[in-house]
Amino acid sequence: MRVLFTGGSGKAGKHVVPYLVAQGHKVLNFDRVPLGLPGVADLLGDICDAGQVYSAMRTHAADEMDEGPAKLFDAVVHFAAVPRYGMVPDTETYRVNTVGTYNVIEAALKMGVRKVIVASSETTYGVCFSDGVVDPKVLPLEEDYDIDPMDSYGMSKKVNEVTARSFQRRFGADVYALRIGNVIEPHEYATVFPAAAADPGLRRRITFSYIDARDLGQIVDLCLKTDGLGFQVFNAVNDENSVPQPNSELLAKYFPNVPLSRPVGERESLLSNRKIKDMLGFKEQHPWRKEVS
Ligand SMILES: NC(=O)c1ccc[n+]([C@@H]2O[C@H](COP(=O)([O-])OP(=O)(O)OC[C@H]3O[C@@H](n4cnc5c(N)ncnc54)[C@H](O)[C@@H]3O)[C@@H](O)[C@H]2O)c1
Repeated sequence: MRVLFTGGSGKAGKHVVPYLVAQGHKVLNFDRVPLGLPGVADLLGDICDAGQVYSAMRTHAADEMDEGPAKLFDAVVHFAAVPRYGMVPDTETYRVNTVGTYNVIEAALKMGVRKVIVASSETTYGVCFSDGVVDPKVLPLEEDYDIDPMDSYGMSKKVNEVTARSFQRRFGADVYALRIGNVIEPHEYATVFPAAAADPGLRRRITFSYIDARDLGQIVDLCLKTDGLGFQVFNAVNDENSVPQPNSELLAKYFPNVPLSRPVGERESLLSNRKIKDMLGFKEQHPWRKEVS
């Protein structure tokens, strides 16, 4: 597929874009800074400028000029964002993430793109960036949870899911939102996981979950390949918690008052990935136990 990818130069995108290219997709990266990957053209721009976003939808990817005027993309993958709370003032996080996402979804669907994949976040569950030490209402966290973040970043991602759903209803295309967990790049296994094993409390706010950046590539590719699901929200995480302590110990120590909606396996991620396994056929390739050894 020809794919317009926003935010491909970032932490997640620089692993997801090469994964998509390796699967045979043609990718144009729309970002404020270049990715610099051979075979992937960089289109520098701002998602908050609607004119630039509309224009980007009909732009040549690498080596396409001989084919004539640029065609509309088959799919848009939207990752560009302020990626967490506290990087810039709250008002700016909310503005960039909501306006930028509105622009990308509107431009894609009004111009006729039939598949849009949007980066949402685990923070929508309202634990990660909440003030104080907050419990989830129930565990494991699954997609039908009544998400209620209190921070600007989580709020922006919740609003983006609403925007995505509304546009899907209007245009009938496929719009999938990925509630992405803490993204781990290959070089991070050596530092993040030993520290978490020594002190699992470091990862309580993300309910101990993670997503390998390359496995996130697989999830995006599966979303590109799976048509006809309308509006969907998928948690995007690996199979297990990111710490070696079993769930019986973690739940007793860190979430003693949180009810379980169903039995959980001792290692099963408390941010559940059942839905992407059942509906998209996700099979993780990079479990942390293989990477950390
Ligand atoms: N990293 C994580 O652990 C994590 C977890 C959950 C969700 N997410 C989401 O996944 C996506 C990617 O996250 P990341 O960690 O790669 O973030 P990142 O900050 O590393 O990358 C984001 C990219 O977006 C670009 N960008 C930002 N504002 C832009 C604008 N106005 N116009 C054009 N480009 C702009 C940046 O230049 C950057 O390259 C984001 O939507 C983020 O909210 C990330």
